Amino acid sequence: MSDVKEVLGSYSTDITKTIEEELAIITPDNLSEASVYLTRAGGKMLRPALTLIVSEAVGGNKESAVKTAAAIELIHTFSLIHDDIMDDDDMRRGMPSVHKVWGDDVAILAGDTLFSKAFEMIIKSNDTTPDQNNKALATVADACIKICEGQALDMGFEERFDVSEEEYMEMIFKKTGALIAGATKAGAIMGGASDEVIDAMYEYGRLIGLAFQIQDDYLDLASDEETLGKPIGSDIAKGKMTIIAIKGLAGDESGRLLEILKAEENSQDEIDEAIEILTNCGAIEYARNLAQESVEQAKEVLEILDGSSFKQALIDIADFVLERHS
Ligand code: IPE
Ligand code: IPE
Ligand code: MG
Ligand code: MG
Ligand code: MG
Repeated sequence: MSDVKEVLGSYSTDITKTIEEELAIITPDNLSEASVYLTRAGGKMLRPALTLIVSEAVGGNKESAVKTAAAIELIHTFSLIHDDIMDDDDMRRGMPSVHKVWGDDVAILAGDTLFSKAFEMIIKSNDTTPDQNNKALATVADACIKICEGQALDMGFEERFDVSEEEYMEMIFKKTGALIAGATKAGAIMGGASDEVIDAMYEYGRLIGLAFQIQDDYLDLASDEETLGKPIGSDIAKGKMTIIAIKGLAGDESGRLLEILKAEENSQDEIDEAIEILTNCGAIEYARNLAQESVEQAKEVLEILDGSSFKQALIDIADFVLERHS
């Protein structure tokens, strides 16, 4: 796993440099600072690294894909800033979230600024053909629409305790899987892959994206704030419909679990009690198996690629999605 972190880290200098150059000219100062703040807070850089690794795995070079990769990290960062407003979460990447520091108004604008910059950056990709740039733009736009749809579903599910597994899978594909799939597809487009390989890379991203969100839901229960850099138990406190909660609500102790999920605030004791219920009824194991299946399918999709260190990195990243603790 530390290898995967090193691989992701090895791409971050190029991505960070591109982002810094693009964000240097925003005014006024408070909007500029709020926009750049989270990009400097040390995210994992999973999505932009995937774009670059896929572009190399299909025979392209990372220079052609770097603006698109940086754009995708900006889209991700925009989604986190707005997500923390919607989820009312105070911490992100180990720092106070943007809306806590600058207030909701500036945080909304900072998100919008990053969102817009991302599209400007893809247009500016200069090593690639107009057709590649258009396809990358369409891919990222499609991911953004899906993020909004998925986030709207996620918020709507907070009022409901009868969400099905199918509804959950649609929601997590849209809010999380779509951008990871967009990242891998855009890498294939900018790397000059065939349509068949482009589609396969989208499918790989979609499958690891589903596993990624299931793991995120698990870590919200099982990690600690220092490791994760964001609040623990937030999903239980907000009554979020994760696959773990959905399975738990079908189990023997669903009555008590429902009480905890419906409560406005939860103590650490209540969160621990919820975890015990969810462990005992097999909900956590179910979620982990579901995620593992997705990872296995994702690795099968990679068989379309010729062998290379980049292909191996994509295989390792698929495993990393479920091994990660943060
Ligand atoms: C968090 O994504 C948001 C989800 C889609 C679950 P990451 O876990 O990739 O966040 P950073 O970029 O490393 O902070
Ligand atoms: C992440 O879902 C979705 C997006 C940011 C689009 P979560 O709300 O579970 O993400 P975290 O746990 O706050 O990072
Ligand atoms: Mg959310
Ligand atoms: Mg959130
Ligand atoms: Mg989460």
